[in-house]
Amino acid sequence: MIPFVDLKAQYASIKDEVNTAIQGVLESCQFTLGSEVAMFEKEFAAYCHVEQGIAVNTGTSALHLALLAAGVGPGDEVITVPFTFVATVAAIYYCGAKPVFVDIDPRSFTMDVSAIAQAITSKTKAILPVHLYGQPADIDPILHIARKHKLVVIEDAAQAHGAEYKGRRAGSLGDMGCFSFYPGKNLGAYGEGGMVVTNNPDYTRTIRMLRDWGAERKYEHVLKGYNFRMEGIQGAVLRVKLRRLEEWTEARRAAAARYDRMLAGSGVVTPAAMPYARHVYHIYAIRTAQRQAWQQTLQDQGIQTGIHYPTPVHLLPAYADLGYIKGQFPHAESAAGEVLSLPMFPELTQAQSEVVAKAVRKLAVRSA
Ligand SMILES: Cc1ncc(COP(=O)(O)O)c(C=O)c1O
Repeated sequence: MIPFVDLKAQYASIKDEVNTAIQGVLESCQFTLGSEVAMFEKEFAAYCHVEQGIAVNTGTSALHLALLAAGVGPGDEVITVPFTFVATVAAIYYCGAKPVFVDIDPRSFTMDVSAIAQAITSKTKAILPVHLYGQPADIDPILHIARKHKLVVIEDAAQAHGAEYKGRRAGSLGDMGCFSFYPGKNLGAYGEGGMVVTNNPDYTRTIRMLRDWGAERKYEHVLKGYNFRMEGIQGAVLRVKLRRLEEWTEARRAAAARYDRMLAGSGVVTPAAMPYARHVYHIYAIRTAQRQAWQQTLQDQGIQTGIHYPTPVHLLPAYADLGYIKGQFPHAESAAGEVLSLPMFPELTQAQSEVVAKAVRKLAVRSA
């Protein structure tokens, strides 16, 4: 049995440190925010090469508050992609704004920068590119067009801890970067978590207030805020895990390189690492027109896979009110029909990679 991710293997490797860190929070009784969260904010912001980090309860809240801090509200439009996890789009809705989709580039699976210009209207307030699967969107052209039209750029970096674009870290590329620490992410909490990172002191101040009931000081509510605080235990666990993140990222990259090597020449479409990117392989997605059959065969052989994501957001029933129809974003639609995520986690062994790659190669030969 080869799992899609193996959180138990990871816990086993850091058990003593994590248990001690959790014990420390239990002793201090700083269950929400507190010193562990404050230290994690500093350490993760530094890791992203950014000055400020504001820890929140989920990645979705990070996106929601970043959009609010950017001034996004009812009547505004935010440009993003339909080939993403639904949270990207939900966060725009939470602000009362309208998501406007552009298609993806079929090689990188990230925003097609050549499609942005025609999506801009007088209502556009922000661009929200997604660093899907751990690879940054092509940010320089996005920043260029955003500056020209005075738009805010918010990165959905939920899958891209430690990813780089031309040597710059994900989270430091736009005006604000939003991360998720959902357990299965490259840096995952033992529960939920998220963070906004930014160099902008005004955004920082607003988001700090919004996450804690809009209060400047206790009971002085300046803004209509939320309870989006990070828990102390999550801050403590994430601090332990952050110390291993580079090592784990290199292990993911090595596992991806092994897959690339073992699948080369088999006809399988492997993920393209763009020349500008340090891809951190949150997901290693191959493409096949026979996805359902391949997934079933792999499952029968004890190999777990995933699909990220089977339906692009513009075709989900929840967002039918946007009025998009099938055929409008052909690259997103065809990717959604063909992607298949292979097991990918830092502890994936050489032997496990070989079993997976051999099985996939066999399927490719049979389908040729
Ligand atoms: C691309 C993307 N955006 C946003 C989110 C939302 O993060 P969370 O689950 O922490 O709310 C996720 C992860 O779930 C994600 O993958």
